[in-house]
Amino acid sequence: MKIGIFGTGMVGETIAGRLVELGHEVKMGSRSAANEKATAWVTKTGSRASHGTFSDAAMFGEIVFNCTQGAVSLEVLKLANGTQTLKEKILIDVSNPLNTDNEASTALLYCNDESLGERLQKALPDTHVVKTLNTMWCGIMVNPRRVKETHHVYLCGNNIGAKTRVKEILRSFEWAQEEILDLGGIDAARATEMLLPLWQRIYGATNSFAFNFKIVCASH
Ligand SMILES: NC(=O)c1ccc[n+]([C@@H]2O[C@H](COP(=O)([O-])OP(=O)(O)OC[C@H]3O[C@@H](n4cnc5c(N)ncnc54)[C@H](OP(=O)(O)O)[C@@H]3O)[C@@H](O)[C@H]2O)c1
Repeated sequence: MKIGIFGTGMVGETIAGRLVELGHEVKMGSRSAANEKATAWVTKTGSRASHGTFSDAAMFGEIVFNCTQGAVSLEVLKLANGTQTLKEKILIDVSNPLNTDNEASTALLYCNDESLGERLQKALPDTHVVKTLNTMWCGIMVNPRRVKETHHVYLCGNNIGAKTRVKEILRSFEWAQEEILDLGGIDAARATEMLLPLWQRIYGATNSFAFNFKIVCASH
């Protein structure tokens, strides 16, 4: 499949690399077609990898991942001309709306009765936004078997067919069917984005980013 990636950071590169390993053609997009990190990634990754602007990546991908800084993701959609280039496509949103004004901040720009996932969906009414993978470190997103027991990935979005396709991608990353929890419509992005402050506190308390959340039910 042809897949676009918005983002040249750690998450974009990790997901892009895994998708190429799985046989997909991947175009990484950024503000500049000459972005150094994207150029280096393409050089080391080979013929199934390419790069360009956000708009180039959006046009290229049948499915596109948003791996940009949450504070600028809405701006990125504009740069990508997303209302046109992402029409009838799936946008997999992995971002978190962290307020980046202050480096030590754990504050979210949108929370409680709104979320970045919903804002992206509102900005792109003809695109199916599916939010997933934003609740864990990127090394686990694409390699869940690094955790030696059952653990969970959440997903939400308004279109059932789009979520089915995203679940297939998650399974190709080796998430087990029973580890994928569908939380409902895109408004569930409020809940998964609001896990970020808890994730950050656990990171601070354990000094490890290689962990994930596991849901355990009591018998009744
Ligand atoms: N790190 C993790 O393990 C992890 C886990 C879960 C979720 N997340 C979320 O995943 C997303 C990506 O994280 P990351 O650390 O890989 O990357 P990041 O540093 O948060 O974002 C990098 C991307 O943001 C773009 N960007 C930055 N400022 C911009 C601006 N003013 N206008 C337009 N684009 C701008 C950059 O564009 P250029 O390419 O042009 O520089 C780059 O592609 C974030 O939302 C993060 O919260 C991260």
